[in-house]
Amino acid sequence: MLSLKTKYAPNPLINASGCMCATTKMLDELNAGASGAIITKSATQNPRTGNPEPRYWESPYGTYTINSMGLPNCGFQYYLDYYKNMIPNGKTRFVSIAGLSLDENKALIDLIFACPDTQYYCHIDAIEINPSCPNLIGHRQLAYDFAEFESYLAILIPYIEERRVRVMTQENHIIHIGLKLPPYFEFCDFDRITAILKSYQHVIQFIHCINSVPNGLVIDAETEAPVIVPKQGFGGLGGSIIKPIALANVRSFYTRFREEGLDIDIIGSGGISNGTDVFEFILAGAEMVSVGSQLMVEGVECFEYILEELEQLMAKKGYSTLDDFRGKLKKY
Ligand code: DHB
Repeated sequence: MLSLKTKYAPNPLINASGCMCATTKMLDELNAGASGAIITKSATQNPRTGNPEPRYWESPYGTYTINSMGLPNCGFQYYLDYYKNMIPNGKTRFVSIAGLSLDENKALIDLIFACPDTQYYCHIDAIEINPSCPNLIGHRQLAYDFAEFESYLAILIPYIEERRVRVMTQENHIIHIGLKLPPYFEFCDFDRITAILKSYQHVIQFIHCINSVPNGLVIDAETEAPVIVPKQGFGGLGGSIIKPIALANVRSFYTRFREEGLDIDIIGSGGISNGTDVFEFILAGAEMVSVGSQLMVEGVECFEYILEELEQLMAKKGYSTLDDFRGKLKKY
């Protein structure tokens, strides 16, 4: 009997935050789909309309996408209310927080944990902190500024942990904490991030990598202009062209975490559109994977065929669980 179970969810698929998860209608659709988990749009305290449109573009067949959404979201409370009112159906419920300052992120954490009447904390299973949105005009990506990122985590992580532990003890409800990371390219940068994470290994249970590749530019030869409006056309790249970068990030962190004895899981993301892609990410070391561009191009139906293809490939290779091949990339 073949099993696709992961540590966090009944199967390894989740939507990438930002894709089809900003409104109740979209979340309902995701919730009816075949993924093992869902995540809400990266949210701020107050609702935001985001950057001017057009701000998203996809190439024919979704080979690549570019976006500069600018965090359009309905405000964090909206997503907490969604999960509180949602009928649980076995999917793991992630929220994504993207406050524009440390204080704003603390306020979002307070919204989750502070109110015993609403008990929002009982309706979410994981909090993903997003310090890697590439599209905020006037803000750099925090996760690229190592010193700043380290000081930020030094305050935010204990703040979350204090509250999380209370809930876990009082309510017997587990909430996982993770970070969404941007792509890194230099080996020394993987070393540096691993060293930073080492201080929080008992709190940060997962990283999710990669976020979109920042500041790409797509030009339309016909109009002689960029294809999106914000930031003079610069935006985050997604789709299958970023897959090798994403696989390299998953593998780089996986090997370092093993070498350093860090028990941190990896959600892989970047250019996943079929079962073979999922297989490759798990082989590189991913516990789960998220689907972004393909979800935008094909809609929630993609989860079903991606899982089917994965099962077929596993059956063909004689694997019955994901653990059978996770991380077991062979040498050339
Ligand atoms: C946005 C883009 C991202 O890649 C991300 O992680 C969060 C938000 C955006 O522009 O809205």
